Amino acid sequence: MSSQPMDTNSMTLTRFVLKQQRKIPTATGDLTQLLNSLQTAVKAVSSAVRKAGIAHMYGIAGTTNVQGEEVKKLDVLSNELFINMLKSSYTTCLLVSEENADVIKVDFEKQGKYIVCFDPLDGSSNIDCLVSIGSIFSIYRKQDAGDKRASIDDVLQPGNKLVAAGYALYGSATMMVLALGRGSGVHGFMLDPAIGEFVLTDPNIKIPAKGKIYSINEGYASVWDKSVVEYVQRKKDPKYGKPYGARYVGSMVADVHRTLKYGGIFMYPATTDSPSGKLRLLYECNPMAYIITEAGGSAVDGEIPVLDIIPSSIHQRSPIFLGSRDDVNEYLQVKKELKL
Ligand code: AHM
Ligand code: MG
Repeated sequence: MSSQPMDTNSMTLTRFVLKQQRKIPTATGDLTQLLNSLQTAVKAVSSAVRKAGIAHMYGIAGTTNVQGEEVKKLDVLSNELFINMLKSSYTTCLLVSEENADVIKVDFEKQGKYIVCFDPLDGSSNIDCLVSIGSIFSIYRKQDAGDKRASIDDVLQPGNKLVAAGYALYGSATMMVLALGRGSGVHGFMLDPAIGEFVLTDPNIKIPAKGKIYSINEGYASVWDKSVVEYVQRKKDPKYGKPYGARYVGSMVADVHRTLKYGGIFMYPATTDSPSGKLRLLYECNPMAYIITEAGGSAVDGEIPVLDIIPSSIHQRSPIFLGSRDDVNEYLQVKKELKL
């Protein structure tokens, strides 16, 4: 039996974050602690997504497990994991989850200076058929660093104020992708199940300036505006260059991760039924726009950069066009040509 030599000096996510922290002399270590708690949540979600304990997930007979407890649905379980890990990290004051109607306040004695907005398990339509799903999060700092209590204004900051953003993809492997501040790059860490650690496998990811793939739910073409219809039509028409391939998983994390790695464009536009599109600004559009922008791409809502939008409510939606710089610009150009 042949065995691979073990890397005795691998760059784990924890080690990477500590190293980044050391570059900032004034850093308190709070962000490192926060990211550690997020890592723990993601590892637990990953294990649940992969049905690592089948009896625990399904129960031996039906929807109750052997202890007779009701088995939790994956999205509920993921939400509880994120909330519990973040609250107990002593680094957060307010949390916004896709699963909770209101802002979640952390107990005063456990409060820290960060605000985390997250979608604990995105891609709900893909959960039951085992297609890739993900978790998405964005991190803000409380505006007033003093001991004034955090308020809703701390949550409703534009994306360009983010301290960090990331996502976890539960795909053919589990990967965490992080952007830890402007200019610090985008880095991918794959979960090595043998040691239970995320290991740096994709340092400094840069999105290609132009891609060959467009990604949109074409079933809604009848309710798109003319600019989207025209742009997608051109992507398929050889008159406008080599036609693009079409890919659409229907899980934002999977579609964005592919776009980050291979280039191209991902779109969830406004429709006549949903004038602001479907995806949520605080914990879907902003973190993804932050990562893609940091990797050299762009992300717009059809008019302005997604990161410039000033949110007015925690669950607000936004249309989004993100990906390779040239592809996003080409869409904006088509829109301009049509004077829309
Ligand atoms: P969800 O939060 O209910 O899971 O919905 C978000 C998902 C995204 O992951 C994905 O990009 C989009 O919904 C797909 O929507 P549609 O099925 O309308 O194409
Ligand atoms: Mg979602």
